[in-house]
Amino acid sequence: MLVALLPGDGIGPEVIVQAKRVLDAVCGDALRYEEAPVGGAAHKAEGHPLPPATLDLARRADAILFGAVGDPDCDGLERHLRPEQAILGLRKELTLFANLRPATLFPELADASALRPEVAKAIDMVIVRELNGDVYFGEKGMRTSASGRRQGYDVMSYDEDEVARIAHVGFQTARARRGKLCSVDKANVLETSQLWRDVVIEVAADYPDIELSHMYVDNAAMQLVRNPGQFDVIVTGNLFGDILSDQASMCAGSIGMLPSASLDADQKGLYEPIHGSAPDIAGQGKANPLATILSAAMMLRYSLGKAAEADRIEAAVAKALAAGHRTADLGGSVTTEQMGDAVLAAL
Ligand code: NAI
Ligand code: MG
Repeated sequence: MLVALLPGDGIGPEVIVQAKRVLDAVCGDALRYEEAPVGGAAHKAEGHPLPPATLDLARRADAILFGAVGDPDCDGLERHLRPEQAILGLRKELTLFANLRPATLFPELADASALRPEVAKAIDMVIVRELNGDVYFGEKGMRTSASGRRQGYDVMSYDEDEVARIAHVGFQTARARRGKLCSVDKANVLETSQLWRDVVIEVAADYPDIELSHMYVDNAAMQLVRNPGQFDVIVTGNLFGDILSDQASMCAGSIGMLPSASLDADQKGLYEPIHGSAPDIAGQGKANPLATILSAAMMLRYSLGKAAEADRIEAAVAKALAAGHRTADLGGSVTTEQMGDAVLAAL
């Protein structure tokens, strides 16, 4: 089986190295790897954030392990050359429409959560975020308004098929867990959300065993902090999911802890930490590699049929945390490599 390694820029390469060490220890020769540049690194080398050879590798591979992109050296570039276009392009080109973000608090990290430990302990949810539509991919532009003012606009839209396919992923994810699905929208204000809610209710007819609820996004933001333990699976659109999943990550300890999977209809997937390229700490050995190591575990489970190996990695991460290893984001002073060492030792 072929794994595409796309380290990216900033802390991306630093965390990918540690995930690769863990994969080598657990899978040995069972996996083959090919690496390609993406994001700021690809722009520097080849003048484009997602070169054709990188896209080709991503298409050929059985799974993709992605670091992060967002090199600030590219800040002055036109939008289509910015590093973030690489991840948006991969999601779109490979039709990776379902983003699964588990937010679970390792009990050892109850003190690292932004919430009181007794509230944080109950966090065990998956946020299912739609990735191919919404305001990120609608018509956008700058124009001059009738009164001569500069005006920026981005169009939010979903069609019913796009909503239905992500709703199915939400219901199926809930079925494999505690059987509760909360659909988050803004149906009191947005037409897009009214369609979203109608379609989710239609799809629910296929899942009579799942307890479905609906919540407005502003209330969901509040409930995530007030009582996160009430959520099992949340399904939501691209924009709301982007924001809520970062919020959930802080409730669960650190942005450096949370993995994600972005899947197509055939379970082929791109796996990446939810954080960005963290230019503020890049090159200093401070990045927490656990989100990427846990993303590698998700890759083994969802795309490569290696659930036992995934379990071993997750158990090793828990053991390393239980032994007291903490990177700076978790209030410790362990380096990126030392955290990798700790996981290997636990394995
Ligand atoms: P960020 O996630 O890169 O960093 C936010 C904060 O969290 C920073 O203080 C950073 O030091 C810290 N942090 C992030 N990951 C960490 C880790 N593994 N260990 C320890 N601390 C960590 O988000 P930010 O600063 O908003 O964005 C930086 C760049 O990354 C931007 O260009 C943004 O567009 C890009 N980005 C890329 C993503 C991707 O590649 N999928 C996702 C999010 C942002
Ligand atoms: Mg985000």
